[in-house]
Amino acid sequence: MKYHIVTYGCQMNLHESEKIAGVLRAAGYDAPTSAEEADIIVFNTCCIRENAENHAFGNIGALKKLKRQKKGLLIAVGGCMVQEEGKAAYLKQKFPFIDIFFGTHDLPELKHLIERKRRERKSVVSVRAAREEVEDGISPVRTSYPNAWVNIIYGCNNFCSYCIVPYVRGREMSRRKEEILSEVRALVKEGYKEITLLGQNVDSYRGDDGTTFPELLDAVASIEGNFRVRFMTSHPKDFSPELVAVMKKHKKICKHLHLPVQAGSNRILQLMNRRYTREKYLEDLALLRREIPDCEVTTDLIVAFPTETEEEFQETLSLVEAADFASAFTFIYSPRTGTKAAQMEGRIGEDVAKDRITRLVALVNELTRRKSAKYVGKTIEILCEDYDAKKKMYLGRDEYGRMGYFKCERDPVGEFIRLKITSANGISLYGEEV
Ligand code: 5AD
Ligand code: SF4
Repeated sequence: MKYHIVTYGCQMNLHESEKIAGVLRAAGYDAPTSAEEADIIVFNTCCIRENAENHAFGNIGALKKLKRQKKGLLIAVGGCMVQEEGKAAYLKQKFPFIDIFFGTHDLPELKHLIERKRRERKSVVSVRAAREEVEDGISPVRTSYPNAWVNIIYGCNNFCSYCIVPYVRGREMSRRKEEILSEVRALVKEGYKEITLLGQNVDSYRGDDGTTFPELLDAVASIEGNFRVRFMTSHPKDFSPELVAVMKKHKKICKHLHLPVQAGSNRILQLMNRRYTREKYLEDLALLRREIPDCEVTTDLIVAFPTETEEEFQETLSLVEAADFASAFTFIYSPRTGTKAAQMEGRIGEDVAKDRITRLVALVNELTRRKSAKYVGKTIEILCEDYDAKKKMYLGRDEYGRMGYFKCERDPVGEFIRLKITSANGISLYGEEV
């Protein structure tokens, strides 16, 4: 029997899909395949913005015909969207052909739910309010070699006013330090070359013995072997000199910090409940760059938050220039039911929102392009991670997160490669192995 998994959303979800694959293997499904060939199709959903949900709705709806044609096909829908209040009932009514619903805390239950569905006619639903035990005991089927994702903390207690994550992922729960370290040691032994520590808010990590995030990072980077370390996501309110010191201390830690700023206006930051100011954010970046001059910073930005004025939007533009970001993910504010911001007055119209995001994207692209152009003629070191069949080139990222493409006769995936950059196009660099 074969499986097909469709994933929406963040790295956390990509890794969770690797765990879903692990559970499916244990339930008797032995290999991945296309949706048409599969005996079970699992959707791992996201609800961070409305368009993520609409995407999933469309693709789930499209399976109605396949489900009718193929006897025995199971369809399961899980993850953040299912965990939203009242959403499982809504989905059940909208898509009566779905066999299994499981929430964000129900992954360890999935095998059991599949077995139950094989016995019962009606759909099975499991949406628990919280996880009881932080260790899920699931061996993931990893699909991202040479990178391996490692969860360090689940959930979020920050309640940024626009964000649904605290409602669907629950309260913060850190894994035990030794569990994390032994997982990393095993991955390095297996040959993984990049370890990415994952959490909605990694800075909130507290080990069973009181270990802080910088201390954990220090311990991970002290493990012997030829690998590098990334981590995400950090919250600016938790930025600390201790973190900078650990990043500076270890060559293994990539000189890249993803530090979502969201907005450039202090009034909007306050409405977002972000708990830092524009000035504090820029001061922290200055400290980071004093200590690690070549460190690159990337960010997330939201435009058209309720009541955002043109002047306040321009403060986001000026912050982007001042912060000298290497790149940024940009979003139009999307109201999420149950969050504080969804109840605020002063929604921004679609035309204004689209105009703002267009201007922001143009600025971010221009800054990225300017940065990339500086690399022509220089040599960078990338970790080769994949082959791009369209471009007929291998690709990988350097420690700063820049993407480099190159031609190669052998299969260099998993090798650290020195590339002499010959041209740049937007965020991508092209080069030759030296
Ligand atoms: N609308 C738009 N963007 C959002 N994000 C989170 N919630 C929303 C929302 N309701 C963005 C933030 C966050 C990233 C993962 O998604 O920028 O950092
Ligand atoms: Fe959402 Fe804020 Fe938590 Fe990030 S820190 S997951 S934006 S509530």
